[in-house]
Amino acid sequence: MEGLFLKVLLLGASLTGLLFSLVDFHFFWKTGLQRPNFIIILTDDMGWGDLGANWAETKDTPQLDRMAAEGMRFVDFHAPASTCSPSRASLLTGRLGLRNGVTHNFAITSVGGLPLNETTLAQVLQEAGYITGMIGKWHLGHHGLYQPNFRGFSYYFGIPYSHDMGCSDTPGYNHPPCPACPPAVTVSESSPGKNCYLDVGLPLYENLLIVEQPANLMNLAEKFAEKAIEFIQQASDSGRPFFLYLALTHMHVPLTVTHQSADLPGQRVYKDSLWEMDNLVGRIKDKVDSISKENTFLWFTGDNGPWSQKCELAGHVGPFTGLWQMNRGGSSAKQTTWEGGHRVPAIAYWPGRVPANVTSTALLSVLDIFPTIASLAQVSLPPQRHFDGLDISEVLFGHSQTGHRVLFHPNSGAAGSFGALETIRLEQYKAFYITGGAEACDGSLGPEQHHELPLIFNLQEDPAECAPLDSSSTVYQNILNEVMGALVDVLEDITSDNISVADYSHDSSVIPCCNALKMACRCQLL
Ligand SMILES: *[C@@H]1O[C@H](CO)[C@@H](O)[C@H](O)[C@H]1NC(C)=O
Ligand SMILES: *[C@@H]1O[C@H](CO)[C@@H](O)[C@H](O)[C@H]1NC(C)=O
Ligand SMILES: *[C@@H]1O[C@H](CO)[C@@H](O)[C@H](O)[C@H]1NC(C)=O
Repeated sequence: MEGLFLKVLLLGASLTGLLFSLVDFHFFWKTGLQRPNFIIILTDDMGWGDLGANWAETKDTPQLDRMAAEGMRFVDFHAPASTCSPSRASLLTGRLGLRNGVTHNFAITSVGGLPLNETTLAQVLQEAGYITGMIGKWHLGHHGLYQPNFRGFSYYFGIPYSHDMGCSDTPGYNHPPCPACPPAVTVSESSPGKNCYLDVGLPLYENLLIVEQPANLMNLAEKFAEKAIEFIQQASDSGRPFFLYLALTHMHVPLTVTHQSADLPGQRVYKDSLWEMDNLVGRIKDKVDSISKENTFLWFTGDNGPWSQKCELAGHVGPFTGLWQMNRGGSSAKQTTWEGGHRVPAIAYWPGRVPANVTSTALLSVLDIFPTIASLAQVSLPPQRHFDGLDISEVLFGHSQTGHRVLFHPNSGAAGSFGALETIRLEQYKAFYITGGAEACDGSLGPEQHHELPLIFNLQEDPAECAPLDSSSTVYQNILNEVMGALVDVLEDITSDNISVADYSHDSSVIPCCNALKMACRCQLL
């Protein structure tokens, strides 16, 4: 039954591919335009302070720092959520989780994914004649039609979810450490930490096929780099414009620095991994420079802030320490709406189009990627829905410094209900109706607190979010009125929008497994 289903899927994929090629061919002949290529590189759990250009204490990102000097660096750029699946769903749809339905992470047993009637950026570009590729971590559903190949990507090479969701024979550095897949070590012998999934190996896919399970984490990043470079070369040879979405597994645990030694101190592991990621991005940039520098727009950013629970294996938030929360316990990074959770590094590189060595302080978001790329590719946005992102091409080209006046930071796990908009950014101010910390390195959890009168911080004067404004001050009252107005507006807008609902149900039969007869589902096709 499963086999038949897969065959039907494969047939469906090839027919869809054929249909798209015919559409593309027609479009290409009709227009004959040279449209720009787009590459989005998304890192995982990278801190704002992990980028040397942002934070002078970091010395491990020379390639990215050079890219910043040759392009535009955004210092007030935000992930659309503080956790993985919602952030990625918003990147690919330009819509917040309350609209696209993805408000928390998908699990290995999740039946659903990004709702099928949400239209992805890749679909829009594919229909416009682009060759589209996704390499790396997907995490928007892996069962049936939720795979990247059915969401607008003609090529996919990667893992369906985070690389700590499934065992590997090369477990890498995690906190607590995870053992290798069985039968090398059995569950009872190793007494693994709660974050180790041992029953099923992490699968590595090429299109709809699992090509390696468990995936070898030691050469995964190298494979991603090689496949990305090959994709760029082949797409460029084809003469058609391309879109590559490269979602790196760096800096998420387990970290897998290749020149590891047993006694490497934890801090070195993180720094070496950062260096490795930087080098990988540098190789992609070199490839772009060698094939079509002036016609390729490379956008580097992150999915959310560092995972502080992982202690010395987590990144740095820079000055955005979320002190108000830290003083009450818990972490103020990933999964929280403190700055450390969602303010991410971002660099735009497009020689000749995006001015070099410019720092933009505009308030921007990963939500803006869809509308901006659609505008640059001269394609229209999918109809019958509203978007939260803006077309920021005027900012990119150096003609404007105007981004969002208001930005919503959805609850992402640490406090409140998933996806709810209880933290609102307004100009340099930020209001919290709910606060709470994620699990910290010391195991503490900041308690969830509701604030009938929101805490309002002035980020310009207080980037560490240490001391809220005095609620009896005039400035507080003025900001509060505007915040309440913005909140009412967005909630009304969402109510009148077409909103999708994700299927978060579980079924163990959807666990990806290429050989159910073997422990950890072992097989190797690569
Ligand atoms: C970039 O700008 C800074 C100051 O804004 C300057 O010190 C630096 O030399 C510039 N770098 C390049 C490569 O132009
Ligand atoms: C929602 O979709 C319907 C068609 O199914 C359309 O008529 C309506 O205008 C859409 N609403 C919005 C807000 O775009
Ligand atoms: C997706 O489908 C659901 C259920 O039919 C509908 O309510 C929703 O408006 C659709 N979403 C979009 C973006 O059209």
